[in-house]
Amino acid sequence: MLRPYKTTNHNNHLMNTLLQTAVNAARIGGDIIMRHYYNNNVKKLTHKKPSDYVTEVDRESQDAIVEYILKRFPHHAILAEEEGGGKEGEECRWIIDPLDGTTNFIHHFPVFAVSVAVERLDDSPRDVSSIEAGAVLNPVSGELFSAQSGGGAFLNGKSIKVSGRSKIEDCLIATGFPFRNKDYLEEFLTIFKRMFNAVSGIRRAGAAAIDLCWVASGALDGFWEQGLSPWDVAAGSLIVKEAGGTLSDFQGGSGYIWNREIIAAAPGIHQMMLNLICGR
Ligand code: IPD
Ligand code: CA
Ligand code: CA
Repeated sequence: MLRPYKTTNHNNHLMNTLLQTAVNAARIGGDIIMRHYYNNNVKKLTHKKPSDYVTEVDRESQDAIVEYILKRFPHHAILAEEEGGGKEGEECRWIIDPLDGTTNFIHHFPVFAVSVAVERLDDSPRDVSSIEAGAVLNPVSGELFSAQSGGGAFLNGKSIKVSGRSKIEDCLIATGFPFRNKDYLEEFLTIFKRMFNAVSGIRRAGAAAIDLCWVASGALDGFWEQGLSPWDVAAGSLIVKEAGGTLSDFQGGSGYIWNREIIAAAPGIHQMMLNLICGR
């Protein structure tokens, strides 16, 4: 157990090592993705479900990231998106999306990322407070977002903050479409209509980890999506929180990393987004 985490030099050192490992792992995945991107040789496309793809690049990136992490921390647990990405372990669990935005990658739409987070496995609540460090890399743009619990959020080493906007009509908001389960479409369209009428603009870029990081850096004022998995949001949620953002699920609760509903926003508009989503 890692109970006295932040109180000793040893644990400060461990936290820095976790962050550095997350950053290095994201870079390892990013290098693999870019090699295939430039060679234009995406083979072995598999449908997980309609509109939901996995390529050999997702798997190659995941294998290399997991291998790197386990070399450094052989006893840690792994939760990664693609097949074979589960491993029990102690102390910490690494939550990995080896390629977030696979559809964009396949189409050469240059918004995709590697997302790596590390979660403390102790008795603390399973929410963002147990995420120790996270890194999200867009290998096309070179944007590397990172955060360590209690240490602020950074873009390529420079401190970032969420936007200070509080007038919802001035805000640029992002979302994702419920393409995996079209049963949610009507509900989504109802929320979309309310949001669309309230805000300045809505974007759907296709990589949730990057949407979250753009909230953290203030490029977006808010983001909401339903149906996401922990690997999509674990690193990005910590980065938003450390950049001063407010996060919740659709009930206003803190279960958003695990319960497939997330709102991440500048503090000045989070409650308004929540109200619009709930129809209040
Ligand atoms: C997807 C992207 C997308 C979001 C999906 C995710 P993937 O991740 O983040 O923006 O709308 O729900 O699953 O499958 O490309 O890793
Ligand atoms: Ca993803
Ligand atoms: Ca993925």
